[in-house]
Order: sequence, then C-alpha cells, then structure tokens
Amino acid sequence: MKKYNVGVIGYGWAAGAHIAAINATTQAQVTAVYSSRPLDDAELSAKHGSPIKSYQNLDEMLNDPDIHVVDITSYPSQHRNQAVAAANAKKHVILEKPMANSLQEVREIAAAVKANGVKGCVCFECRFSGQMLSTKAVIEEGLLGSLHYGEVDYYHGIGPWYGQFRWNVGKKDGGSALLTAGCHALDALLMCMGSEVESVSSFSTKSASDIFKPYEYNTSSVTILNFKNGAVGKCAAIVDCLQPYYFHTHLVGSHGSLLDNKFHSSKLGTDKSKWSELSMKMLDSGDVSDHPYETQFQAFFDALDAGTDMPLTSIAESLRTFEVVFAADKSAEQGGKPVKIADLA
Ligand SMILES: NC(=O)c1ccc[n+]([C@@H]2O[C@H](COP(=O)([O-])OP(=O)(O)OC[C@H]3O[C@@H](n4cnc5c(N)ncnc54)[C@H](O)[C@@H]3O)[C@@H](O)[C@H]2O)c1
Repeated sequence: MKKYNVGVIGYGWAAGAHIAAINATTQAQVTAVYSSRPLDDAELSAKHGSPIKSYQNLDEMLNDPDIHVVDITSYPSQHRNQAVAAANAKKHVILEKPMANSLQEVREIAAAVKANGVKGCVCFECRFSGQMLSTKAVIEEGLLGSLHYGEVDYYHGIGPWYGQFRWNVGKKDGGSALLTAGCHALDALLMCMGSEVESVSSFSTKSASDIFKPYEYNTSSVTILNFKNGAVGKCAAIVDCLQPYYFHTHLVGSHGSLLDNKFHSSKLGTDKSKWSELSMKMLDSGDVSDHPYETQFQAFFDALDAGTDMPLTSIAESLRTFEVVFAADKSAEQGGKPVKIADLA
C-alpha cells in the first residue's frame, strides 16, 4: 500500500483525470469517492484499478481516519464549505480552481487550512506544464534580463460543445471570465513576473454570438497590472471565442524577449531580428487528460513527505493570484477604475 489515501469529492470530468494522476504518483492512491450520485464500488474499483469505496455522505468520508488527503473537484460554489470541512477534519486538501467564487470564501479556506496545520494544493497545474517550467527556467537563467512587461492571455471558447457549459454559464458557478478559466493565464503571468501586484484595471464585455448567449456574465475581459517593482503586464481572459485554444505568452526584459516557444536573448549573441526556438510541450488544450496534474500532485506528495508547503501552487501562493482576480473583477464592475490589492476589503 502507498502512504497517502485520497478521498475525491465530485465525480465528473476533472475527477477522472485527478484519479489517474494521483494513482500514478509514487506515494498516493485514491481509496474513496464522495458523489451526490450513488456509485457502484466494484465498478469504480475496476475502472480505476484499485479498491475504492463510494460515499453519499461527506461527513462519513471525512470521518474515515484512513483518508489523509481530500481532493475537491465539485462545482465552484461548493468548494468553500467542502474545503473548510476537509481542513477541519485534519485532511490535506487538493482544490480545483477556482478556489471559490468570492474573496471572502477563498480567505476562509486559507484560514482553515492554516489553523488546522494541514497542507494544500490548488489546481493551477499550468505552472507544472512543460511550457511554463521551461519559460520559468529561461527567466531564472537570466536570459531575458529583468522583465518590465509581460502578457499571458487565455483564449478558449467554452461553448455548448464543452461539458462544463451546463453550469459554467451561470454566475453562481462560472463567476467571471477570469474565475472560470482565465485565472490560469493570470496565475502564469504572476509566476513569470515574480513581483507582487500593486493595482489592476480591468474591462469586460461579451460576444454578440448566439452561441454564448446563455452566459449570465461577461465572458471576455482584459486586465492591466501594475507590479510593485515598476513592471507592467496584461492578461486577456476570453472564453467566448471561436478559434483554437491559445495560451499566449509574451515577456519582455532588459536582455531579450520570449513569445510562446520562441525567444531572443542578447546574452547568447544571436541575431535579434530572428527568433530562436525552444523545444517544449505547449499548453494547447483545455482537455484535462492533457493537463500536467501528475507532475503537480507528485510535487504535492513530495512536499507532504518533507512536511513543507508545496512549490508553486500552495494555498498561500494561489490566494495571492485570487486576490488579483477579485481585484480585476471589481475594477471591471466599476468600468475599469483602478483597484489596489492593499485596498481589497
Ligand atoms: N484545472 C483545470 O484546468 C480544470 C479543468 C476542468 C475542470 N476544472 C474544475 O474542476 C471542477 C469540476 O469541473 P468538471 O469539468 O469536472 O465539471 P463536471 O460537470 O464534470 O463535474 C462537476 C460536478 O458535477 C458532478 N456531476 C457531474 N455529472 C453529474 C451527474 N450526472 N449527476 C450529478 N452530479 C454530476 C460531479 O461529480 C462534480 O461534483 C470545477 O471547479 C472546474 O473549474 C478545472
């Protein structure tokens, strides 16, 4: 038996990818699933290749002393109560994005995790993608010098062809263009820029297409960021587009630039009128089976072994990203009026 038993909350699309990724780690296995639907234990166990007990009562699963980690893949509006209950039951927490759809709820989750001395992992798994790990390495090697401008944008049409559409169109669970999906790009931008955000200005709108009419909120937003070190940045979150998935990254520094998988560095003495190319796996799909959950969860369980917060996507680190998300949405509601992070209530 491996060291960590994981109980998964929710049994939808993300849960399937999480179970495979958790079972592929060195130290953990999924042993329980809580769902509002009755599930067949034998079928679940056969499908995922290990014994899994299903629960229809969350408290019963949380009371099981053999479960060490709870993985939350439910609707966003359920995240706060489930994450707080899991932390209070002294379980470590894996939490899908968005952490929750209000800043107060996100703060309550962070407080419960801290108060109970458990650890957390937020599913900003893009930070563990080949593309972002290589991009981070280029920055840390100093090849771009000091960054003064960065933009990371999320273009992914989430229409009726997408399973999430049925609940994503509602304000309660979808939230905003940033909360529902664009937060991945904003989070990647914050990782690349490496400085805290001072203030943001954001504007939002929505497509005139009938396809996206069911959305109860603006599905395109653009946010301008002022960083504490003087750098500036931009993040577009577009979920009402008709085009291939595109995670656009453009970073500009004192010694070079990076555009997606291309870069120029004056430190290498190459020709700045031509790009050099990086060979790396690109973030080019919203499909969860394609996402680097396994690398992320392995890092989380390694951190649990070491008794430390995980790198890159701990609760505290992700809380900072969500503060910027909520500041941006507040600014967009006020027609683009700048919002300082320090002034968030
Ligand atoms: N990190 C990422 O890139 C990523 C990708 C996909 C989803 N997510 C997140 O994961 C969470 C879940 O999203 P999802 O795509 O898995 O949504 P989903 O619709 O497949 O599942 C959402 C919830 O609905 C429940 N559900 C699904 N089908 C059901 C049914 N027939 N009857 C009753 N309940 C049912 C699931 O058990 C789950 O609790 C959300 O927070 C979402 O934002 C994140």
